[in-house]
Amino acid sequence: MTESTNIIGAEREEYAAFLQNYPDYRRTAALDDLRASDYKRLDDQQHTYLDYTGAGLHGASQVWQHGDLLNSRILGNPHSGSLSSSAATSLVEKTRQRVLDYFGAPRGEYTAVFTANATGALKHIGECYPFAKGGRFLLTADNHNSVNGIREFASARDAVVEYVPLTVPDLRIDKDGLESLLDNIEPGHASLFAFPAQSNFSGVRHPLELIRQAQDKGWDVLLDAAAFVPTNRLDLGAVRPDFVSVSFYKMFGYPTGVGCLLVRTTALEKLRRPWFAGGTVNFASVEGRTHILAPGEAGFEDGTLNFLSIPAVDIGLRHLEKIGIEIIHTRVNCLTGWLLGKLLALQHSNGRHMVRIYGPATTTARGSALTMNFYDPDGHLLDYRRIEELASGQRISIRTGCFCNPGAGEAAEGLTADDMRAAADEPAGMTLPRFLQFMQHRGGKSAGAIRASLGIVSNFADAWRFLTFAADFCDQTKLTMGEVTFDVDSCRVIRDGS
Ligand SMILES: Cc1ncc(COP(=O)(O)O)c(C=O)c1O
Repeated sequence: MTESTNIIGAEREEYAAFLQNYPDYRRTAALDDLRASDYKRLDDQQHTYLDYTGAGLHGASQVWQHGDLLNSRILGNPHSGSLSSSAATSLVEKTRQRVLDYFGAPRGEYTAVFTANATGALKHIGECYPFAKGGRFLLTADNHNSVNGIREFASARDAVVEYVPLTVPDLRIDKDGLESLLDNIEPGHASLFAFPAQSNFSGVRHPLELIRQAQDKGWDVLLDAAAFVPTNRLDLGAVRPDFVSVSFYKMFGYPTGVGCLLVRTTALEKLRRPWFAGGTVNFASVEGRTHILAPGEAGFEDGTLNFLSIPAVDIGLRHLEKIGIEIIHTRVNCLTGWLLGKLLALQHSNGRHMVRIYGPATTTARGSALTMNFYDPDGHLLDYRRIEELASGQRISIRTGCFCNPGAGEAAEGLTADDMRAAADEPAGMTLPRFLQFMQHRGGKSAGAIRASLGIVSNFADAWRFLTFAADFCDQTKLTMGEVTFDVDSCRVIRDGS
């Protein structure tokens, strides 16, 4: 079944024009069939799901397969010799190999450490990377807080922490700034550079060539791939970051509670665990106050692994392999291009633009997270919290806030260290509503936005529904946040969005 069967009226005309402008979309028709079967619940419930950067969606078949496996096997706590234990160990190890193979990790070069999520992988780096005086932690302003938080470990151990700035309005890494910061490394001192392969705020895909560039200058590189891998192929045979963080529920929805740190064997040897736990030691003595950490991934997998859920990762990866990540990539790229162009073109009756998109206005080196704010005809910011409520009323799931990525949001809005200090100095204490009002009075700045993100089974109808929802704010004046106005038209050159 193709999508066009369900489309009528103006949507049909737009769909025809869309197909003309984005002919590659036709090659992704298999995803319509998949949606109609495995993801039937979306259309049954008329739900427009646009939060794939928050969490991917699983196909029903993944859960059935996992249920069948659990209901047909006797699986015990792994790493013992019993039948039930060996059965669990063998499923965990099969999944570990599947993960390495999926990411094209050259044999013997990478280890996959199972964690609870991407944050768990990143915390391992914070805790175990040999930060010390003379060393550095360099990270891009565009990063999830789970990467930003590593700076606390680095500075506690006297390493220098520095941020690479972003360019405005595209929110890409400032290449000149990066070049000189990368040159600033003291030989012989462990130094780590961290950046996201794809921004969870702006959708920008940062260049993977930076990995090699930084490594050539002596840096270890941490690539946060959590927002990248749901719609892009990461090939560890082609780019060789020292550390990679992922959460599997972002890739294929199910299971939650399992993530992974992919680590190069040479980099793993540099990590120093600050403690040991059940499962991570070959030997531990109370009398002798000594322990010997287990080698490889085992030394990092604290306590009992999530051994019932880990086999569902194998199922999820096979699900992705069967569909083909390139098909998903092509589909979201077409839909993103169309939606970007249409949102940027929305105007009030007085000709002023309605929507401000943060980050690139075209699909060049950008993924499918569209972060934006809406403005009234006089340039007053519309309250994104109310917009989220209204979207929910129409069964559209979007996300609002700063998406745990304060640096990209601050760069997008021009929020400065002074703004933040002034907010912190407010006598009455800061709440979110007060903070939003406060920033409104510092030049009409917004501290938060709306994010619509596309993923595995997004279709034209989803993009269309969001566009028509947005278009309904034409000439709207009731949802403004304050009196301060913002000139949407001057904030960027409106491009054709192709
Ligand atoms: C780029 C990026 N990194 C890290 C994370 C953290 O992922 P988790 O909450 O699954 O640990 C997220 C989650 O949204 C993300 O988008």
